[in-house]
Amino acid sequence: MRHWTIAWDAEGLATLTLDRVGTTMNTLSAEVMAELGNALDELDRDPPRGLVIRSGKASGFIAGADIDEFGEIATEAGAIALVRRGWDLFDRLARVSYPTLALIRGVCLGGGLELALACRYRVAVDEPATRMGLPEVMLGIVPAWGGMTRLPRLTGAAAALDLLLTGKTVDARRAKKLGIVDEAVPPRIMENTVRGMLRTLPPPRTLDLAQSLTLQPLARRFIASQAQKQVAKRARREHYPAPYALLDLWVKYDGNALLAPASDPSSVTNLVRSPTAANLIRVFKLQERLKSLGKADAFVAKHVHVVGGGTMGGDIAAWCALRGLTVTLQDQKADALSPAIARARKLFDERLRDARKARDAADRLIPDIAGNGIARADVIIEAIFENVDAKRALFADVERKAKAEAILATNTSSIPLEEIASALGDPTRLVGIHFFNPVARMMLVEVVHGVHTDPRVAAAAAAFVRQIDKLPLPVKSAPGFLVNRILAPYMMAAFRAVDEGIAPETVDEAALAFGMPMGPIELADTVGLDIAVAVGKLLGGRGTPPRKLTELVEARNVGKKSGRGFYAWVDGKPVKQTAGAVPEGLAQSLVQPLVDEARAALSEGIVEDADLVDAGAIFGTGFAPFRGGPLHYAATLPERPMSASVEAVAVV
Ligand code: NAI
Repeated sequence: MRHWTIAWDAEGLATLTLDRVGTTMNTLSAEVMAELGNALDELDRDPPRGLVIRSGKASGFIAGADIDEFGEIATEAGAIALVRRGWDLFDRLARVSYPTLALIRGVCLGGGLELALACRYRVAVDEPATRMGLPEVMLGIVPAWGGMTRLPRLTGAAAALDLLLTGKTVDARRAKKLGIVDEAVPPRIMENTVRGMLRTLPPPRTLDLAQSLTLQPLARRFIASQAQKQVAKRARREHYPAPYALLDLWVKYDGNALLAPASDPSSVTNLVRSPTAANLIRVFKLQERLKSLGKADAFVAKHVHVVGGGTMGGDIAAWCALRGLTVTLQDQKADALSPAIARARKLFDERLRDARKARDAADRLIPDIAGNGIARADVIIEAIFENVDAKRALFADVERKAKAEAILATNTSSIPLEEIASALGDPTRLVGIHFFNPVARMMLVEVVHGVHTDPRVAAAAAAFVRQIDKLPLPVKSAPGFLVNRILAPYMMAAFRAVDEGIAPETVDEAALAFGMPMGPIELADTVGLDIAVAVGKLLGGRGTPPRKLTELVEARNVGKKSGRGFYAWVDGKPVKQTAGAVPEGLAQSLVQPLVDEARAALSEGIVEDADLVDAGAIFGTGFAPFRGGPLHYAATLPERPMSASVEAVAVV
């Protein structure tokens, strides 16, 4: 065996260790699975008193199936074979004559957790890196190697469906509370706990009566129909079939996907027939690619200084403190900082859900009106008013005070980097780190390089963006960078549709039916119509400005923040009428300008390649993930000539 080793101790306990060759993280490739089968053969010949399955990697237990082998699901027969391979093997593991125990340390996801669930016992090591979950639905597939069957038997239906349908992960303690693992222990006693359990063989966990009733057929049907209503609020079946299929498979076949005939709409055959699974796997890989862009430099920050404590600066500072950095936050006005600090506290409470950790995060965020933090900071992020003279003056001062190796970054949305950089003695030091609003929710951050920016500074800035758990996208300094540039013509098309007499609700419904997370009109109201106008002007919006938008802004009805925009806003929500029938071609007329602009941005080299354009669109604008990105989507459409506007942009 290349990937697994078996070791025996004096008491007759065997330890089966997975250390997949040639990878830093364990995944379950076809070869790894076949070898596990061989190992079980060997153990059948000479059964141990007990078997421990563990990882030989520092990076975690097992991250799941090997996604690079998912090309197999391109054919229906390949998909079924992939399901059968895991189902049969883990079924066999679950039936061996000797007791089995999975020692879970670090990530344990997807197929990795399904393997652990097939063991009689599970011990999780209680440390921050340990996370367990079944994220298959996020890839448009279902946990068909036994996860759908075994997880509900340990936790009851409600908790299991919550994990299965959202793909979220839990830590060791939560896993113990839910019943997923038998023990959650600190590293120093894990070996003793494992041995102790295999010596004493406590009865395996069973559900209490109330929980076991949730698995009865009638209860299943009821619980699944309730769960389906929750799913429907977040994802339409025609876009994201997997969570719906998962519920059906659990109700009808107790989670054994192999029992569903191809004719069943929830069958694996049908799931892989829709392009969603392949596109979501593509999105996953795009995300991995963005992550890898932060690995080119070993830069690590300890202290971040943010200048400007308004909407963006305040939230950027809070996010950095949440991610463990020491942050000093400066503003020219002392009273600007208290709302920022109050928002930060709310974020810490919501995200950390632990009073002590929230207090520690709050302690890391230090108000600093005098700007004393500049001299100590590893990264200085400017987020003051969008005014070039103010920014130039600020950076001239910051450069004098900052450490020589500190990253100097601006969050500007629209000022060319070069205009700010020329105020510095060394303009190569300036880079853009462009966050999106709301900072806590938007994963993408554009890392902007101007003509002067030292590539090493840009690489260090990308490493910093990864350090705070965001996705860096390197972009060239040009109006709108990538994300705002491709979003603007899409929004413009939506405003024009309203001017043509289509109700805002109908325009939004067309976008939702296409798969956007929020309609463009609601999005504009949320961002602020004044900002929409400013962005439109900045990007040189073609033709006359949209009429309704202009009227609303002139009347100071700028959207959510003023209580009225295209919609009236009550308690932070838009009041919408029922959408009318969506006219044929409306969605396409909204999306096509975005696609055209994406092509133009690519041809101008704003980002390096088409995949990065798609990644930016998905993680920066929420462009329908199941379509795989605007350029990928456009490639699936019949050929059409480039529009005149794109040619114009390309010529400029
Ligand atoms: P804001 O108006 O909410 O906050 C700006 C803050 O900077 C104010 O508190 C002001 O007192 C302070 N300030 C101004 N000059 C200063 C100086 N010389 N020293 C110290 N503090 C100073 O502005 P917002 O919306 O946070 O924007 C900040 C920057 O972020 C701008 O460059 C903007 O283009 C960019 N941006 C804004 C986004 C948004 O959605 N609001 C999204 C992405 C980038």
